[in-house]
Amino acid sequence: MKDKQPEAWRQDFPVDWADDHYVSRRDFVKFLVLISGGFATGQLCIGLDQLFQGGAGQGFPRQRLCGLDEVGVGQSLAFHYPDDNEPCLLVRLEEKRWVAFHQKCTHLACAVVPQPEQKRLFCPCHEGAFDIDSGRPIQGPPRRALPKVTLEITDREIFAIGLQRSNG
Ligand code: FES
Repeated sequence: MKDKQPEAWRQDFPVDWADDHYVSRRDFVKFLVLISGGFATGQLCIGLDQLFQGGAGQGFPRQRLCGLDEVGVGQSLAFHYPDDNEPCLLVRLEEKRWVAFHQKCTHLACAVVPQPEQKRLFCPCHEGAFDIDSGRPIQGPPRRALPKVTLEITDREIFAIGLQRSNG
């Protein structure tokens, strides 16, 4: 009976006190390997996501936005692209110059509004602004550019065909 108790205890705690620091070191290395593996996997997933979403024409639908005579110079059109969760804006800057961007501000996702006369897309929430040609932030708290919709313009119509997400 006396011998049984230490044996049961040894099954739960199989390491001698003298070797305990080795186990701790071994556990710490396991922990590091696990964390590093998780981190590397996360980086790989982010890289693959950017690879597949970063360029125009890579798996994006071709979506008709409007006829060329439906939006006047200085006017804009709201649409969603590439899916219903992504509100976008098409802006006609000049007779033959169009731009389109995601409408969610890259700061805290408020809707930006076009101000073509000031060459910017303005976010009223914290007075952020983006360059209307490039989508780059030019004022206020936003640090990342608005994703830019790649356009295809035919004789009569305009289509969204891709999306360019900036890493900066
Ligand atoms: S949400 Fe656009 S500037 Fe803050």
